[in-house]
Amino acid sequence: MGLLDGKVALITGAARGIGKAIALKYASEGADVAFTDLIIDENAQKTVDEIAAYGHKVKAYASNAANFEETHQVVEQIKADFGAIDILVNNAGITKDGLMLKMTEQQWDAVLAVNLKSAFNFIHACVPIMMRQKGGSIINMSSVVGVHGNAAQANYAASKAGLIALAKSIGQEMGRKGIRANAIAPGFIETAMTQALPEEVRKEWMEKIPLRRGGTPEDIADVATFLASDMSSYVSGQVIQVDGGMNM
Ligand code: NAI
Repeated sequence: MGLLDGKVALITGAARGIGKAIALKYASEGADVAFTDLIIDENAQKTVDEIAAYGHKVKAYASNAANFEETHQVVEQIKADFGAIDILVNNAGITKDGLMLKMTEQQWDAVLAVNLKSAFNFIHACVPIMMRQKGGSIINMSSVVGVHGNAAQANYAASKAGLIALAKSIGQEMGRKGIRANAIAPGFIETAMTQALPEEVRKEWMEKIPLRRGGTPEDIADVATFLASDMSSYVSGQVIQVDGGMNM
């Protein structure tokens, strides 16, 4: 028996990286999986095939999570295709780093729209469905920098702090409807996002991690499985740092 048997999960930005690892883990635990990404290309199709190998329903949808209308349309489509949405993982995210003196309005707006407004869009569209189902689990993918801040990432850190407050607020507002909301704050995780960093920055991060390794997408997927499953049925409004014990 899987931890997520009979549940339907919707994960944003899951063609690769952490979202993909969560989708695979959820399918391995018995969930049907709907995921979105900006485009559903060959790589996203490969992700679909890997998830399908677990024998549960899976479908990928091209959708810009930052767009309110598109999000409502895709959620409606997913509800029609899958019949329910029990788990929502707001995972889609981008970085556009820069020191404040050099940060443009465009850098600020783009990061806030993709990282934070996207979560509002999906929560806004999914909550009525979860209310009718009398339950649901919402997981916002924050970051350790959303808890502690980070130089040259004011836009990203602010968006990730917003995701924590959003989860806590929804947890309070929706608890009586059986809906839980939590945030995960990953530390340094080995994905395309961090592989793009200069070697000296990567080295600097590694030296701060007591467990002396970068995290894997699977480390995050394990915690996302706990928060999605009934094992965490009395956990809401929390932020869990998954960072190898890093003390920023
Ligand atoms: P990634 O860049 O490998 O994957 C992000 C996915 O989101 C991509 O497939 C991308 O196409 C998709 N995406 C981007 N904009 C989108 C949009 N507007 N609509 C729909 N999909 C969109 O990144 P990674 O590392 O897997 O990160 C996943 C989440 O975890 C992000 O929210 C990120 O901020 C967060 N995170 C990552 C950390 C890391 O060390 N890799 C650390 C802390 C948080």
